[in-house]
Amino acid sequence: MSAAMKLSNFPGDVKFLVISLLISIHLSLTTGTANVQRYFGSKTAYELIHPPPEIVIEDEFNSVQVGTFSCLAAHSSSVMRHGARYPGLEDVQSISKIHKDIYDKLTSDKFQPLKEWKNSFPQNNEKMLMALGEEEQIHLGHRTARRLRSLFVDEDMENFRFLVSSKQRTQESGNAYHEGFLQALMGDSEEGDMDSELSDETLRFHERCQKYIHTVGKNKTAIMEFYKFLSGKEMTNIMKKVSSKLGIPEDLLKTEHLRTMYLVCGYETALYQSSPWCSLFDEEDFKVLEYLSDLKHYYKNGYGHKITAIQSCPLVTDIFTTMDDAIEAMETEVDEEDLNGYVLGNFYFGHAETLGPLYAALGLFNDTLPLTADNYLQQSSRLFRTSEILPFSANLMLILYECDQNDELLTESEAADETRETTQYMLRLYVNEKVMKIPGCEDLTCLYSQVRKRFVDLISCNFSKVCDYNGRPRDEL
Ligand SMILES: *[C@@H]1O[C@H](CO)[C@@H](O)[C@H](O)[C@H]1NC(C)=O
Ligand SMILES: *[C@@H]1O[C@H](CO)[C@@H](O)[C@H](O)[C@H]1NC(C)=O
Ligand SMILES: *[C@@H]1O[C@H](CO)[C@@H](O)[C@H](O)[C@H]1NC(C)=O
Repeated sequence: MSAAMKLSNFPGDVKFLVISLLISIHLSLTTGTANVQRYFGSKTAYELIHPPPEIVIEDEFNSVQVGTFSCLAAHSSSVMRHGARYPGLEDVQSISKIHKDIYDKLTSDKFQPLKEWKNSFPQNNEKMLMALGEEEQIHLGHRTARRLRSLFVDEDMENFRFLVSSKQRTQESGNAYHEGFLQALMGDSEEGDMDSELSDETLRFHERCQKYIHTVGKNKTAIMEFYKFLSGKEMTNIMKKVSSKLGIPEDLLKTEHLRTMYLVCGYETALYQSSPWCSLFDEEDFKVLEYLSDLKHYYKNGYGHKITAIQSCPLVTDIFTTMDDAIEAMETEVDEEDLNGYVLGNFYFGHAETLGPLYAALGLFNDTLPLTADNYLQQSSRLFRTSEILPFSANLMLILYECDQNDELLTESEAADETRETTQYMLRLYVNEKVMKIPGCEDLTCLYSQVRKRFVDLISCNFSKVCDYNGRPRDEL
């Protein structure tokens, strides 16, 4: 007998009570882990924090109406962070050591799963893409091609640029994205090799910009707020809670070990949907640990230091130069037979170190108050929340539209005005697949020339000049 049939025997309000009881049991069983998975900072799985719609509308992003202008997509540039990856060697070794240190204390039944835990991460430092990361990218490529189908379909693959960094995880992300992209355009059976360009210039500028390397990258003082928070009262409080749960002395572990446990809880949840390490923390703890991660990104890959944003200029330049060229090709187009080929799509596969600085360069997720070690509570609704903005497979897309005046929508005097512009180029910004205002614009759709003007310093910047570093004290020379 099914639950529904049984329920039909009860009077109305009892039925309601039983149903709400069932719902609440169901919720408490599922949200326990579901909530936690939203706080893994830059180790958050993309589809958990940005669940894809069940149905992706074909050509959803392909056209837009702006006043009397009808716009059609003419080009898109997307920057992706690689998909979910394995942890680096330091964290992998550190968690084994922590496990060894607390092993004898895991006497209660409650910690049996933790006692039996085995380190199953690769013992190399390749930070390779996980199967989950590959899926994230296949799906993302598929959704993008579907939403811009009319722009991309039947086009020569030569009109697309796939740019990857020198790391396996971005190259495999590019391959996976490309696979989903082709599937959406040409059906399941289609396979094609991706012709990619290696471009650490646009994707790993943080390793090339000397000023960044010396003043931020290698400079512990530059992420002072992270260290302060690490040894601050919120973290010490978690230390006390975890130590008492485990029945270990409070000085056995350091707060940085809590961070490793939290990261491993995140990685294992991505791999196996659960991890015994998560059982040591409650939701409040996760929020604190998330803030700790946000602080690191804010000062390394975000607004903390100006050079971080400035060094992204090779990427910004590459994107805008491609769009300038596309516009020039459209303007000089003679007739259909004589179409000037231009790049229809740029697809960049980079890192948190690529996308974070790009956000900061464009002025996205810019909190009025800087994130610091002592304003955790004030920052509870901060914009710079890495779980949301920099999860695995985080992505940003600019779509360039060619817009034509729709004469039917004009008044007679407007139509008679011979000087009026009949074609305009407009831009829209999508971050993690949601449309967002471009800073400096009134509307979601913005004149290309207006955006270009706002970012002209970045577009025309001289990388060697802005990254020049001669900060060494004289007596060291
Ligand atoms: C390191 O960072 C601090 C804080 O931003 C800064 O004052 C200092 O000059 C930096 N050190 C170097 C070598 O640039
Ligand atoms: C970010 O916000 C701060 C404070 O409101 C402001 O001074 C700064 O110019 C903003 N940065 C960008 C890139 O928009
Ligand atoms: C960029 O700056 C470097 C160093 O300041 C200079 O030598 C070079 O000529 C500049 N390049 C351009 C194209 O202006």
